[in-house]
Amino acid sequence: MGMLPRVTAADLARWKKRGRRIPVLTCYDFTMARILDQVGVPVLLVGDSLGQVMLGHGSTLPVTLEQMIHHTRAVARAQPRGLIVADMPFMSFQVSAAQALEAAGRLVKEGAADAVKLEGGARSAAAARRIVSAGIPVMGHLGLTPQSILALGGYTLQGRRKGEAEVLLADARRLEAAGCFAIVLEMIPAPVAQEITAALTVPTIGIGAGPNCDGQVLVLHDMLGLYQEFEPRFVRRFLEGAELVSRAVQEYMQAVEDGSFPGPEHSYGMEERG
Ligand code: KIV
Repeated sequence: MGMLPRVTAADLARWKKRGRRIPVLTCYDFTMARILDQVGVPVLLVGDSLGQVMLGHGSTLPVTLEQMIHHTRAVARAQPRGLIVADMPFMSFQVSAAQALEAAGRLVKEGAADAVKLEGGARSAAAARRIVSAGIPVMGHLGLTPQSILALGGYTLQGRRKGEAEVLLADARRLEAAGCFAIVLEMIPAPVAQEITAALTVPTIGIGAGPNCDGQVLVLHDMLGLYQEFEPRFVRRFLEGAELVSRAVQEYMQAVEDGSFPGPEHSYGMEERG
């Protein structure tokens, strides 16, 4: 049996055209990438949300380009069939289009990313265009852009006030014109996301943006019920992961304490080689 081809950025627009919905999950390490690949997740986003769920920061702002490369490389070592999209961290693309291209190049060359994602509409369109022109696929990100948390003042719904929906639509069109192959829409009203989705030929990937986007993305640790610090309303837990892990660890401690682990099946005799 031949190997299935890897997912490419160009595949996603074809899937939109055919009405095939796109499930996306964040992923930050080799072990999880292997599991996601085994069930065929088509897009693995190495999100800068790793700042919170992997590194314990309160926001994505402290995440460095080196950390993004490190985690992207770990995901790539699993050789997933899905597209690996690496987030461009705060201050790796805001200074200039040249700076953005350099950072995106490192994510591809050193991190083995297939594509990069950057936040922002009009303010990021030149950077997106420059990166695309160098042959690196770019995913956009509009609505709640967590790297702007200091200016936004909180992780709140965007695009609700007068005129905001129009700005979001114009930004989405701008990113599409800049060559973005997909656009994340985060925490915006479902009707606004629906209108943007209908207006674009590239797919929208929603997170807290209702059911009418072309795809959906969730932070893996949120949907597995592992991250317990903060849970937005739009998250659905598909597993009570923290509870399951706690139970297993308690059982392990109990087994060590009562001497039932390791048993004979986990121990070696003198004649065995291991
Ligand atoms: O960093 C991230 O995980 C993201 C997704 C939530 C879209 O940007």
